[in-house]
Amino acid sequence: MSNLGYTEKVLDHFRNPRNPGRIEDADVTTKVGSAACGDMVQLYLKVNPDTEVIEDIKFESFGCAANIASTSATTELAKGKTLEEAKKVHFKDVVEELGGLPKHKVHCAMLATSGLKAAIMKYEAKRGKRTVDEDFVKRMMTGVLDPAKGLNIVAAKRVDRIEVEGKKVRVVLSKDLDDDTRATMAEDILSALTGLDLEVSVE
Ligand code: FES
Repeated sequence: MSNLGYTEKVLDHFRNPRNPGRIEDADVTTKVGSAACGDMVQLYLKVNPDTEVIEDIKFESFGCAANIASTSATTELAKGKTLEEAKKVHFKDVVEELGGLPKHKVHCAMLATSGLKAAIMKYEAKRGKRTVDEDFVKRMMTGVLDPAKGLNIVAAKRVDRIEVEGKKVRVVLSKDLDDDTRATMAEDILSALTGLDLEVSVE
């Protein structure tokens, strides 16, 4: 271990992240947030529709050094795998790949792998292989931030209710939000659920 308890491997991924950036014509994009620290990660996937192999994957991390390194390692572990194989990438695999992480930084690897899982879930929903239900919507909304609490809106308990009926999704936000915050959250919720052929309303 060296600087701040990080291994050389962590520092290498942090300084030279693999697969950073965006994929403009991505098949699926997801942003997820950590309930532990409020940080976010956004993933972009290109998937071969016939083989379901992840042909390309890129990320933008709005997290700490450990998250940049973890997401970089996660993309390396996922690239070239089928969706079924990639689903099994566990945060412990990422920690192992990095030669370890300080205990208080393990959640940064969890954020990276939860982003990958959310992206796969969204891809499956897009292809009609997964039912859009309340849990799914909640998962997609963990990339929406409550600026006042510095946490995602699910962890910050800003979502009162989610109703799903077929393709109709209704999200009811808590009453005590001011109009500007509510409008920003609504916009972010719509963008989190975009590309899924859903009728989304936020109140
Ligand atoms: Fe938030 Fe690392 S402290 S992702």
